[in-house]
Amino acid sequence: MIIAIDGPAASGKGTLAKRIADLWGLPCLDTGLLYRAVARDVAARGFRLDDAWAALAAARSLDPAELADPDLRTPQAGDAASIVARIPQVRAALLAYQRGFAAQPGGAVLDGRDIGTVVCPGADAKIYVTARSEVRAKRRFLEYMARSEPVTYEAILADILRRDERDASRDSAPMRPAPDADLLDTSDLDIEAAFDAAVGLIKRKIGQ
Ligand code: C5P
Repeated sequence: MIIAIDGPAASGKGTLAKRIADLWGLPCLDTGLLYRAVARDVAARGFRLDDAWAALAAARSLDPAELADPDLRTPQAGDAASIVARIPQVRAALLAYQRGFAAQPGGAVLDGRDIGTVVCPGADAKIYVTARSEVRAKRRFLEYMARSEPVTYEAILADILRRDERDASRDSAPMRPAPDADLLDTSDLDIEAAFDAAVGLIKRKIGQ
């Protein structure tokens, strides 16, 4: 069973994806980490993030075993990721790995921006997770505070809005719900309620 979880920055899709994967005993891939790692490698080699040649080289040489780096989780890494993510060659280079991950025996859960539309258009269940931008910024702010990251709520909100705009307006695989995705607005739900709602949607889709 392949489950696609998409949605904008800080919508809670990553947390939901992990919990859904645990429930069904499936492997889970946070595809945002791939773009974050490509951006990190481009910058580390001294190139501009919009340098298509350098970004493609970084995508081709990416070792997905090295995605655990905590530096990939910072707001700066997310912003940088959305710049390399606009480059079609980078997206194409990361596609095979994502599809291979999804094709594991038994299936997988993948979360990102284009899983339901491009990476796994034939997924058994697709959920597009949203929440009001102020709610997303507040959740992310509390998360960073807990990790003692020096950020302000205003800076996080600005980052989220900038990233949403970049991700939704790019030509290549823009962020959008697949026509057959179920929409889940978690603005007024806590994580337990959001999880229950997501599980209900998936069970209905797969006929359980
Ligand atoms: O999900 P996360 O916030 O880690 O993603 C970082 C950035 O990577 C996104 O803002 C987006 O530009 C890009 N991304 C993407 N397609 C995906 C996953 C992430 O373009 N499937």
